[in-house]
Amino acid sequence: MFFVTTAIDYPNGKPHIGHAYEKVLADVLTRYQRLKGMPSFFLTGVDQHGQKMVKTAEAEGVNVATLTKRNTKGFIRLWEKLGVDYDGWAETTDERHKACVQAILSKLEKKGSLYKKSYAGHYSIRQEQYLTDRDRNDDGEFGSEWGEVEEREEENWYFKLSDHVEWLRSTVESDDLKIFPKFRKNEVLNALERSGDTDLCISRPKERMSWGIPLPFDPDFVTYVWFDALINYISFAGYLKAEGSDFPDFDSLWPADLQIIGKDILVPAHAVYWPCMLHAMGFEASEMPTLLVHGFWNVRGDKMSKSLGNIVDPDELADKFGPETLRYYLCRDIRSGKDSDFDIERLVMLFNTELANDLGNLLNRSINMTKGFCNSTISDTNTSDDEDLALRESLTRSIDAYRKAMDACEVSVALQAINDHVTHCNGYLERHKPWEMKKDESKLARVGEILSHTAESCAQLAVLLRPILPNAATKIFSQLKKEDLTEFTLDDLKWGLLEAGHQTGKPKPVFPRIQVEEK
Ligand code: MSP
Repeated sequence: MFFVTTAIDYPNGKPHIGHAYEKVLADVLTRYQRLKGMPSFFLTGVDQHGQKMVKTAEAEGVNVATLTKRNTKGFIRLWEKLGVDYDGWAETTDERHKACVQAILSKLEKKGSLYKKSYAGHYSIRQEQYLTDRDRNDDGEFGSEWGEVEEREEENWYFKLSDHVEWLRSTVESDDLKIFPKFRKNEVLNALERSGDTDLCISRPKERMSWGIPLPFDPDFVTYVWFDALINYISFAGYLKAEGSDFPDFDSLWPADLQIIGKDILVPAHAVYWPCMLHAMGFEASEMPTLLVHGFWNVRGDKMSKSLGNIVDPDELADKFGPETLRYYLCRDIRSGKDSDFDIERLVMLFNTELANDLGNLLNRSINMTKGFCNSTISDTNTSDDEDLALRESLTRSIDAYRKAMDACEVSVALQAINDHVTHCNGYLERHKPWEMKKDESKLARVGEILSHTAESCAQLAVLLRPILPNAATKIFSQLKKEDLTEFTLDDLKWGLLEAGHQTGKPKPVFPRIQVEEK
C-alpha cells in the first residue's frame, strides 16, 4: 500500500493557501499512485492541542474545545470543496490517538529514554519553546519573530534525543531516511552538526497548559505539542491499535512512502525529533518515512502573515474561480521544493491561456468538428502520414515525461508535458485546417483522420489530468462518451482508446474563460 501523509495543520484559524497547497499536492500524488494501479492510503488532519489553540480561544472568548471543533470543521469543509480525498483523518484530540501517545510514552519511560529535570531560561510563548543564545539576533536580543519572550524556570520531562543523533547522522547519510528534494538533505546534516547533545523537552506543566495529553506516569504534566503531533503519522495508521479498531493495518502502511511537509518544519521536528523518536520506539533505519519537503507560497516576496494582512484565503478563491482552477494554479506555479509568489493575475492568465484557450479549445474544436463533419464518428487512425506519426510521437513523449515528473513529485513539470502535447495538437490543426478541407468532399476521409488524432489525444490527456483535475477529466471523458476511462491505469494508455466507429458526444466548454473585471 502506498502511504501518503501530510503535516497536520493547526486549526487556530481558517486554513490558508499554504495549508491548501500541501493537501492538494498530497491528494494529486495519491491519485497519481492510483492511476498507476497502486493501492494507496492518504492520511491528513489537524493538530489540535497546544498553547496556540488556548491563546486563540482566550482571544475569541470561547472554550478551547469549542474553538477546536468549530475550526476543525472549517478545514474539513474546505478539503471537501477542493476535492482533497483523504482516507484517514487525524484529530489529535481523538481518544484513540491519546491512548497511543500515552502507550508510547509509558514504553519510553520504562526503557529509560525519558527523564525529569529543572530548567531555567528564556521562553518564547509564540513558538512554544525555550530559546538559546543561538536564537539571539546581532544585537544580542531575541527578535520580534519570537513574539513575547519571558524568563521561566520549570521542571519538565525530557526525551534523550542525544542517544540517537549519531545513528540519525548515518541514517541520513546512507539515505535510509530519504529527504527530497536532495538539497534539503544537506540542510539536515548541517543541523545535526550544530545540534550538540541537547535533549528534547516533551512536557509542559499542567498548571500552565492543560490543553494536551497527560503524561501517564506523571499527570501533572501534559505532552508538548511536537511529541503529540508527530505520533499522528503512526497512531492513525494503526500503530498499537485496540482490538476491533477500524484503523488500518499498520504493517501494510508503514513506513510512509511520502510524508509531505513544508520547509519550516523539516529541522528539527521532522528530520531530527521524529526519526529519533521512531528509533527509540524500536523502528529501524529501513523503517523511516520518506520526507518530501515543499517550499512556501509568499505574497510579493513577503511571507504571509496576519500582521501584514496578506493571507491568501483558498476558500474565497475556490468560490470565485472554481476549486479546480485553484488546484491547477497550485500545482502549476510552484516548482518542487522552491518558494513561489501567489499571484491572482497569474492564476487567471494561466487558466485562460493553458486551459481555456489551449486545451479547452483543442477539445472543443475536436468534438465540434467531429460532430459537424464526421457524424460524431471516430475514423481509423492507423495512418502513415508524417504529421500523424509526429503527433503520435509527441503524445508518447509527453506521457513519458509526465510519468517521470510525477514519479519525482514534480507536478508542474508533468503539467508542462501535458501542455506540450496540447500545443503540438493545436499546431497540427492549424496546419491542416480541417474546417477548410471539409469543403472538398474528396478530402472528408482525411478530415476524419485528423480530427480523430486530436480527439484521441484529448482522451489520453484527460487520463493524465485526472489526478490534478478529476472533475474536468471526467467531463472530458463524458463528452468523448468514454466514461469507462475513469477505470484506466497509466499502463492502459496506448493509442486507440477511441476505436474506429466510436461515437463522440456533444461539445460543452469544460474550461470557460475567466472574465477579467475592468479596473
Ligand atoms: N501543526 C504543525 C505540524 C505538525 S505535523 C506533525 C504545523 N502546522 S501549521 O498549520 O503551521 O502548518 C501546516 C503545514 O502547512 C506545514 O507543512 C507548513 O509548512 C505548511 N505551510 C504553512 N505556511 C505555508 C506557506 N505559506 N506555504 C506553503 N506551505 C506552508 O506546522
